[in-house]
Amino acid sequence: LANGLAATPPMGWNSWNHFNCFIDEKMIRETADALVSTGLADLGYKFVNIDDCWAEISRDEKGRLVPKNSTFPSGIKALADYVHSKGLKLGIYSDAGYFTCSKKMPGSLGHEEQDANTFASWGIDYLKYDNCFNDGSKPIVRYPVMTRALMNAGRPIFFSLCEWGDMHPALWGANIGNSWRTTNDISDNWDRYNSWFLEQTRTRVYAEYARPGGWNDPDMLEVGNGGMTKDEYIVHFSLWAISKAPLLIGCDVRNVTKETMEIIANKEVIDVNQDKLGVQAKKVRMEGDLEVWAGPLSGYRVAVVLLNRGARRKVMTARWDDIGIPPSSTVVARDLWQHKTLKQRFVDILTATVDSHSCKMYILKPIS
Ligand code: DGJ
Repeated sequence: LANGLAATPPMGWNSWNHFNCFIDEKMIRETADALVSTGLADLGYKFVNIDDCWAEISRDEKGRLVPKNSTFPSGIKALADYVHSKGLKLGIYSDAGYFTCSKKMPGSLGHEEQDANTFASWGIDYLKYDNCFNDGSKPIVRYPVMTRALMNAGRPIFFSLCEWGDMHPALWGANIGNSWRTTNDISDNWDRYNSWFLEQTRTRVYAEYARPGGWNDPDMLEVGNGGMTKDEYIVHFSLWAISKAPLLIGCDVRNVTKETMEIIANKEVIDVNQDKLGVQAKKVRMEGDLEVWAGPLSGYRVAVVLLNRGARRKVMTARWDDIGIPPSSTVVARDLWQHKTLKQRFVDILTATVDSHSCKMYILKPIS
């Protein structure tokens, strides 16, 4: 969407994956504090996004959305002011239907202009727009109404389409939003994740549609929520980063562990996600449970993930032919999880041993 935003994929935090509907202004403030004190904000995690359940079920006498008095008594404007004072941005959530998915608050269908103006007046920077309880018309009919309302609201607001990918939003999303969900909801579980989230068919099929201004969104991060091993979370984070997915942390950053920080605060991996070229990687080879993912970066570099989804440790190979490096090129490899530049120089192939449910991630730079 040509609103000047999303030159690189958005980074921040969202309440849903960890807190569901159990949210309040105190927790949101503490989260903003934690993003700053942990250093995550400095790494680029700037959006503090409130998901479903922040509003009263009824609008006020003028039809405006009302922050829930029991949980957001100071109102959203005060929260936005607080978040902005920390150098962060505030995101909010609504729905292109009559209710949001929780059914605990109204949706924006028929109130698009009013709600966009309310959000702008509060100082909102990001809107996630869900698709529950709609009138049965196509998303491509309902979502642009909000796009226009936001564009006219007098404040740049990142617009995140949450249509779950059913109507192939990559094909139309670039003119309507800054990102579009390609899947149903993620879960913090390798088996479920492995069976079809990792597969991410619609994220991969539409790789070419991602570009500065509009990104494929395979849903928010689960790193730190406890359902997967460290290696599995590293796979999750590596694939999201190389796929130019939004990096929206979904855990409780007020109580973040060292192990979680080693993953979400890996600057070298974040830099792949935020590279200015903005080209989504592709799965370039698959042999059983072994997958090679690769995509170009600025400066004639290539990012590569060697992923072993299987039960046993395996030797894996990245071939220049597969990953888009000219034949016979000599390459320097940087291991982004070991934080080491390998001493060896590589010609035509790079091989590595990859543990079960684990991956290696490199930046390869041809030097001759
Ligand atoms: C469905 C979305 O896909 C989720 O990310 C979350 O926003 C919930 N709705 C909230 O009800």
